[in-house]
Amino acid sequence: MTDEPYIIFGSPVISQAEIDAVVRTMETCWIGTGPRVHEFQTKMAEYTGAKHALAVGSCTAALHLSMVVSGVQPGDEVITTAMTFCATANSIVHTGATPVFVDCQRDTMNIDPAAIEAAITPRTKAIVPVHFAGRPCDMDAIGAIAKKHNLLVIEDAAHAIETVYKGKKVGSISDLTCFSFYVTKNITTGEGGMVTTNNPELAKKIQTYGLHGMSADAWSRFSDKGYKHYAVVFPGFKYNLTDLAASIGIVQMQSIDPWLRRRNEIWAQYDEAFADLPVVRPAPEEPDTVHARHLYTLMIRDDAKVTRDEFMGQMHQRKVGTGVHYRALHVHPYYAERFGYVPEQFPNAYWVGERTVSIPLTQKLTDREVERVISAVRGILS
Ligand SMILES: Cc1ncc(COP(=O)(O)O)c(C=O)c1O
Repeated sequence: MTDEPYIIFGSPVISQAEIDAVVRTMETCWIGTGPRVHEFQTKMAEYTGAKHALAVGSCTAALHLSMVVSGVQPGDEVITTAMTFCATANSIVHTGATPVFVDCQRDTMNIDPAAIEAAITPRTKAIVPVHFAGRPCDMDAIGAIAKKHNLLVIEDAAHAIETVYKGKKVGSISDLTCFSFYVTKNITTGEGGMVTTNNPELAKKIQTYGLHGMSADAWSRFSDKGYKHYAVVFPGFKYNLTDLAASIGIVQMQSIDPWLRRRNEIWAQYDEAFADLPVVRPAPEEPDTVHARHLYTLMIRDDAKVTRDEFMGQMHQRKVGTGVHYRALHVHPYYAERFGYVPEQFPNAYWVGERTVSIPLTQKLTDREVERVISAVRGILS
């Protein structure tokens, strides 16, 4: 057993620059929503090429708000993938609408456009593709289906800040796109999220509904420009991001490109090191796309000498953290019982969910740690 430290799955890089930025924000005493949030929004709009970027407290909040401003309501159906994190579907349930799962493709783990088309009914209101692990979904096909049936597209881009699809940056493609800055994401604010859109009306609604439904620019109510009255125009939510969090995000954004390069290097080393093992490695990235390299997933094949869960146990003993992204959502008790789903209904999502394991991939990994991950995986499986 090594006496080297445990490699924590998804540990973020926090350098002195982030610490200094937070301290500077604290010194201004403007620690709630204010100028740093505005700056972060401007930078995200520039980066994604979207006309509007609205910061919120999480991607979960971003998804829920996006449903609400799209007019999703009880009686509606929203189509999404069974291979996603629960927040994607929970945010649909919170509007009173029904989440309608469809299967993913086994190799890309992204939503299958043909399955979307087959699931459309007169009640369908929106499609929520998830760019799994940072690989772009087939947005041409999804966009064409949405256009044909007059549906909104709300992208779950929690894994996909760097993702580019056929020259188009994710965040500037569909009606609404939701990003996550959770601790394990490619860049983090501790907790945080962002909605981007090119639609000024949706942007205004996101801003208003995300802060109690108050019409005036509420964050500036107490500024040195004097008190402003506000009017409540909707029973909104308290989903705003703080300047403390935004100041971390502004610094993290400066490293997006070098960090992606580092994750690409690690990815290539993993691909090479695991070629002869009884695993399915991630599919190659599609031409004319940028994969955000958020998760490196291995499918433990049925002919391996350990199961996925045994593999994870043995990685832990070798002091390497792992994760599961994800057990298919339709097999979780709430979704299975409430909507009557059975595992085999979405065979690809079920197959992936029973076999997949994510190994550490952050930019924080040293060469030595990458070596340790590789030798742990090979030690268990070869
Ligand atoms: C695919 C996906 N959607 C949504 C979320 C929710 O993000 P957040 O934790 O920022 O609410 C996550 C977070 O892990 C995710 O992986």
